[in-house]
Amino acid sequence: MKTKKLLTFAALVSIISGCGSASRENFHQEFSNQIEKIIYYASLAGNSHNTQPWYVYVESDSVLFIKADFSRKLQIVDPDARGLFISLGAFIENLELAAGSLGYKAEVKITAKHKNDSNVATIYLSESQKNGYNLSQIENRRTLRTPFHNTEISKDHLNNLIDNSSSEIFYFSSSSEEGKYIAEQTLAAYTQQAQDDQAKQELANWMRFSNSDVEKHRDGLTTSGMGITGFGGFFVRNFYKPEDSMKDSFIKTGIEKTKEQIENCGGWLVIIQNEDSPESWIKTGRLYQRLNLVCRDLMIGFHPMNQMIEEENFEEKANERLSQSGVIQFIARVGYVDEYPPANSVRRSVKEIIR
Ligand SMILES: Cc1cc2nc3c(=O)[nH]c(=O)nc-3n(C[C@H](O)[C@H](O)[C@H](O)COP(=O)(O)O)c2cc1C
Repeated sequence: MKTKKLLTFAALVSIISGCGSASRENFHQEFSNQIEKIIYYASLAGNSHNTQPWYVYVESDSVLFIKADFSRKLQIVDPDARGLFISLGAFIENLELAAGSLGYKAEVKITAKHKNDSNVATIYLSESQKNGYNLSQIENRRTLRTPFHNTEISKDHLNNLIDNSSSEIFYFSSSSEEGKYIAEQTLAAYTQQAQDDQAKQELANWMRFSNSDVEKHRDGLTTSGMGITGFGGFFVRNFYKPEDSMKDSFIKTGIEKTKEQIENCGGWLVIIQNEDSPESWIKTGRLYQRLNLVCRDLMIGFHPMNQMIEEENFEEKANERLSQSGVIQFIARVGYVDEYPPANSVRRSVKEIIR
């Protein structure tokens, strides 16, 4: 009897470990030319809900048009498309870095004039010396949602992250009054958003629990991307449907997890711009991407948490409290970590991004 039970348990463990979450490593991509490779690296950029709201028209070997895909916009939590343009800014930052590494100079001309403009940027590529940039930095960048150490970020590391002359990036340690305010308001805004029916439905639309959904869409929030691992991950992948993320029990767990996250970090990075415009959002996205890339190298976990500026009633107060003249565009929780798991959030194939 005991042996039978043991065998059943062993079989279960082997099923679970053999049924890992489909993640980036499962989708190998082949490239026909260097432009496809550059676009692949661009697509590894962080982006809201992993909607990947971009496509590219390749006009010629030297001219690319970067376009916004508004069918992928988050209508409820991002009605002004700020998060969408930030995502495109991150894409452009990766693109320029990857081009430099692969022997191209990329001149970026931002063309987006208003929040419904799908013509985001034109990229002029010219052949140049490879600049030695290490592409593994782009491959290894990821959003990390685990608890971080509460240790403050060191002065040296802050100097690496924030240019002395920057008037756009601010760091607030978790023990500062501002840091405490961000933590408390982020939790309250998250709780409000998590209970909003429309926001719940929108989030459910981007949940990719089962491996077959991950393989089909190659976007959205997956169990591995969200760090739901082990037996929990197995259970969610195999028995949960996207609509289950709207259930009270799931929401309660999300709020508890968020509380743990805001209580466990060294501080907060906040990007502030003078105005609200697609151009300043794209700039924010480029800065965000840079910060995330450098944090990874310094073993600093990086976790965007923008609920405080997504929820209107919180946003106004946050701007009054934290920003003298500008508008808060982006907030991330940061802190030292001992372990940085591999980047695993999936991306659509380059062939699908190029039109
Ligand atoms: C504008 C913006 C807002 C985001 N907000 C959140 C957030 O509130 N919570 C979160 O866990 N991740 C957030 N993210 C991170 C994305 O979910 C993440 O970049 C995406 O799922 C891809 O995963 P990766 O960064 O690991 O490649 C945000 C990203 C962007 C660009």
